[in-house]
Amino acid sequence: MPIPANPRVMSGMRPTGQLHLGHYHGVLRNWIKLQNEYECFFGVVDWHAMTTDYEDPRAISENVWEMVIDWLAVGINPGAAKLFIQSRVPEHAELHLLLSMFTPLSWLERVPSYKDQQERLKEKDLTTYGFLGYPLLQAADIIIYKASLVPVGEDQVAHVEVAREIARRFNFLYGREPGFEEKAEAAVKKIGKKNGARYQELRRAYQEQGDMSALEKAAALVKAQRRISIGDRERLMGYIEGAGKIIFPEPKALLTHAPKMPGLDGQKMSKSYNNTISLRENPAAVSEKVSRMPTDPARVRRSDPGDPDKCPVWKLHEVYSTDEQKKWVQEGCRSAGIGCLDCKRPVIEAILREQGPIRERATELKKDMEAVRGIINEGCEAARDIARDTLEEVRQAMGLSYR
Ligand code: TRP
Ligand code: SF4
Repeated sequence: MPIPANPRVMSGMRPTGQLHLGHYHGVLRNWIKLQNEYECFFGVVDWHAMTTDYEDPRAISENVWEMVIDWLAVGINPGAAKLFIQSRVPEHAELHLLLSMFTPLSWLERVPSYKDQQERLKEKDLTTYGFLGYPLLQAADIIIYKASLVPVGEDQVAHVEVAREIARRFNFLYGREPGFEEKAEAAVKKIGKKNGARYQELRRAYQEQGDMSALEKAAALVKAQRRISIGDRERLMGYIEGAGKIIFPEPKALLTHAPKMPGLDGQKMSKSYNNTISLRENPAAVSEKVSRMPTDPARVRRSDPGDPDKCPVWKLHEVYSTDEQKKWVQEGCRSAGIGCLDCKRPVIEAILREQGPIRERATELKKDMEAVRGIINEGCEAARDIARDTLEEVRQAMGLSYR
């Protein structure tokens, strides 16, 4: 299945608490880059938060706005990306319901996070219908925008895989309309003689020789046709491979290649390890947290030499320091030329320097919540326009458009 010529990007984040530097380095910086390269949809997925925090939904609504402020403060640009709140685009729920009709239970039960999270969050009862459906709701989030690329971390790959299978199954079940071949051939005639001939040639090259580049070129050619209906476009996409209409492109995870952001203890920074520095942590707390970080346990006294490879502070230098500073750490640590507090100082300064403008912008935004709400209103409307169109098509494909 080819990646369309101008792929859409969709991703979401659960509003379960304050964002931290791990979110910034691991996810948000990537979003900021992507927003200038693709049409992006970024959702605050409050319903996903509800699947685990259903006993205390009030906390979620507070986190929603804090999260929006964080996004804007780090430089997510509402002029470039569409920012929305999941529950404000109720079409996600309708699609989730419709997808549930043909989703085998086993697809959901075998997703690793299903059992893992139940084990990890023992204090919560996650033997619920909603929690089982978590990956399916995520699939709806993604395919409702016909997104092809989903920037996520390693832990979400299995979920994107479910979305892929769901898209494929939907196309298989509902893309096979009566008279597909004839309709597809008629659509070929509508794109003009030259384009039509080129399309057929590429289609043959793909079908007879499995030529993947022909597949991609044919898809790009179809994408570029502005005069034909959505239905014909989907027919032409599907007809390249011979299957039926392609209503949903199959989404693909776009893995973030950022190095893992280390937390205060050297493990990955994560709320569940209690080792985070929040995005807008106050400066005194940043100094204190870093100052208290454990170091190479062999450096008991200032005069003991150490080994940066055994020290969580070194991992922060790898994120924040220049080559020159890193050399200073390596030499100073191994020769006991510097003390651990000396070593931590540039890290503290770098974090504060990074947070300064973020904190400032957040303060400004908080003073004008009306504007923040306005940004979200617009994003929700834009997202909803697309979502409505998709649902219209979905209802039609499923035979539910009697009115
Ligand atoms: N499950 C994702 C997470 O925990 C959040 C999410 C919900 C998401 N819907 C999405 C991510 C759609 C990408 C696309 O991080
Ligand atoms: Fe860690 Fe730096 Fe101390 Fe070495 S000098 S143990 S790298 S904090």
